[in-house]
Amino acid sequence: MTTSNKKGVFITFEGGEGAGKSVQLARFAEYLQNHNQEVVTTREPGGTETGKEIRRLLVEGDKDKFDEITEILLFYADRRIDLTKVIHPALDKGKIVLSDRFNDSTIAYQYYGSNKFADRRIMDNLYQIVAGDFKPDITFLLDIDVKTGLERSFKKAQTMTNKELRFENVDIAFHERLRQGYLELAKQEPERFIIIDASGSMDEVSQKIIEAYEKRIKE
Ligand code: TMP
Repeated sequence: MTTSNKKGVFITFEGGEGAGKSVQLARFAEYLQNHNQEVVTTREPGGTETGKEIRRLLVEGDKDKFDEITEILLFYADRRIDLTKVIHPALDKGKIVLSDRFNDSTIAYQYYGSNKFADRRIMDNLYQIVAGDFKPDITFLLDIDVKTGLERSFKKAQTMTNKELRFENVDIAFHERLRQGYLELAKQEPERFIIIDASGSMDEVSQKIIEAYEKRIKE
């Protein structure tokens, strides 16, 4: 089991396609650094060099290339590497760790979205093996309607050389289930989640994140 003498703070950014997580994470990191905080950023999949190789396997190519068990094992392998090499070492040093996606993505995409599992036990068991009782302190859920999110996502992919569209290339019902799944997770853990309406401009969304964070740390 992975434990950390947690002195730092672990904050995750979650959301469906095109919600703007990555941009918002970078802006939030800048805000924290301007407030003299030491920040480490990571992403899943792909927060480490080995993780990047796992990411390439996962996000490129045919959407049916893995059976569902193989797929989640790869996500948890990447998560384990991220936890042991990046997240826990940084938290042990008292840093704030920001992660672009974490375990809620697996529950939202592989459980709620893909609809291939009768229950969450396989993911919950794997999470226990990989992370033990460790959890993010705060999770920002960037919520956006599915159509707007996918339009943003395809537009961004046109500018990229590698076309990371394996998960975008599934039907719209998948993305609707995924969005509802995230909202359900947020309902189950209101003390951890902060839902952010991600439909506005980048500046508006950044402002909402900062305001919500400042409010949360005062509570
Ligand atoms: P990204 O959109 O943050 O770049 O993430 C890459 C893709 O991987 C995205 O389509 C969501 C998907 N994903 C899962 O399906 N399950 C997971 O556990 C994670 C971390 C990501």
